[in-house]
Amino acid sequence: MPALPAAPAHVPRHIAIIMDGNGRWAEQKGLPRHKGHEAGARMVRTITEECARIGVQRLTLYAFSAENWKRPKREIDFLMKLLKRYLAGERPSLMKNGIRFAAIGRLHELSPEVLAELEKTKAVTRENPKMTMTLALNYGGRGEIVDAARAFAGDALRRGKVPELTEDEFARYLYDPAAAEVDLLIRTGGDHRVSNFLLWEISYAELWFTKDYWPDFSVATLHAAIDDFARRERRFGGLAER
Ligand code: IPE
Ligand code: IPE
Ligand code: MG
Repeated sequence: MPALPAAPAHVPRHIAIIMDGNGRWAEQKGLPRHKGHEAGARMVRTITEECARIGVQRLTLYAFSAENWKRPKREIDFLMKLLKRYLAGERPSLMKNGIRFAAIGRLHELSPEVLAELEKTKAVTRENPKMTMTLALNYGGRGEIVDAARAFAGDALRRGKVPELTEDEFARYLYDPAAAEVDLLIRTGGDHRVSNFLLWEISYAELWFTKDYWPDFSVATLHAAIDDFARRERRFGGLAER
């Protein structure tokens, strides 16, 4: 086995990835699209394990968007079947690598079988200390903000008054308040867009794009993205340090 690359000096705390290009990866090889999704699922394991190894605290992966229901039923059915298989097969690796599993999105709209696998994976990995890996499923960034506003309004009604609302207070109503800041957002597949992913959370994220389709992503490309991140100066609206 080749030696693993050394961990980069400056590792982002929270990496989010738009894993795009599975279908095109398969098509360019003359394969049906579902083969691309299978290859993509294998890359999820590689990248998740590497992120845990090098000290990333949170990894959020866009696995199925609220808009992906527009796809043909047979592709959606395949993706849901793959998700169930992935979750059941991944639990040993998550345990071995100390990775806690979480999911965000309108999860209640997923099938009971998928929900059961999600709950089981969350429950068994709950105490794992190394990294939290979150799958975004039936997820939309605008939907998340609307769901947060609804939860806030519900609280206001229960309390009989509208509580103070700051950005930090509002963020407490997001799907996972502890994951409210993304440091590095990676998109594979060549498109330069956000596709309704983590709109609140990426406000000061560094963006990094590659033409590689997701199944062709690699540990080396992850390290290239992190090295690039480490060279950037994040000013958050302030002035450069001199
Ligand atoms: C990303 O790959 C995976 C999902 C959206 C589920 P795509 O399926 O979007 O692949 P392309 O973009 O069509 O190549
Ligand atoms: C974004 O990819 C969603 C996921 C990776 C799950 P899409 O393929 O759905 O995005 P668009 O349609 O190209 O914007
Ligand atoms: Mg796509």
